[in-house]
Amino acid sequence: MYQAKTFQIEALEGLSEKQIEEHLKLYNGYVKNVNTLLERLTEDQQQSDKMGVEISELTRRMGFEFNGMRLHEYYFSQFEKSAGEKDALKKKLVEQFGSFEDWQDAFNAVAKMRGIGWVLLVEDEINGHCFNVWVSDHELGHLAGQKVLFAMDVWEHAFTVDYAPTERGKYIEAFWKNITWQKAEDRYQA
Ligand SMILES: [Fe+2]
Repeated sequence: MYQAKTFQIEALEGLSEKQIEEHLKLYNGYVKNVNTLLERLTEDQQQSDKMGVEISELTRRMGFEFNGMRLHEYYFSQFEKSAGEKDALKKKLVEQFGSFEDWQDAFNAVAKMRGIGWVLLVEDEINGHCFNVWVSDHELGHLAGQKVLFAMDVWEHAFTVDYAPTERGKYIEAFWKNITWQKAEDRYQA
């Protein structure tokens, strides 16, 4: 069973306390649903005659709920403070994209795609190549065998307490003002 995490998030610039509070409520819902699914599926999947329409659909649902939980954990923890001056990931991105800013532009371009979902910076565990990946909802479009290094939520619920649905660009600017890059560096080296 999974426990909802708590995050030490201080006052943010351009993202209100109310926005974060509402968003955390949604996160808690994903954790709750992961546990509900685990309970149902652990029991029912052991009996193949139970794999009818209902249990099959609950099985499919796990990707949405589990990734909804885990991606939000990456996301909210990036607003926490963290000491450290590692820069191995930055160096890797410079090597691959030309400069950190060029990588960031590419990442933001993906984040501005129409639709709801996530933009993730991931690392291929086989050869270390980094990708900016668009994930629809929480589960569609992940590349197999990739480690998530950095995550930006671009569902409208991530910003519509503070911004209009057409103001995703302003949200993206606010997001960057508040994140702790060391969190991504820590994941890269972990
Ligand atoms: Fe979200």
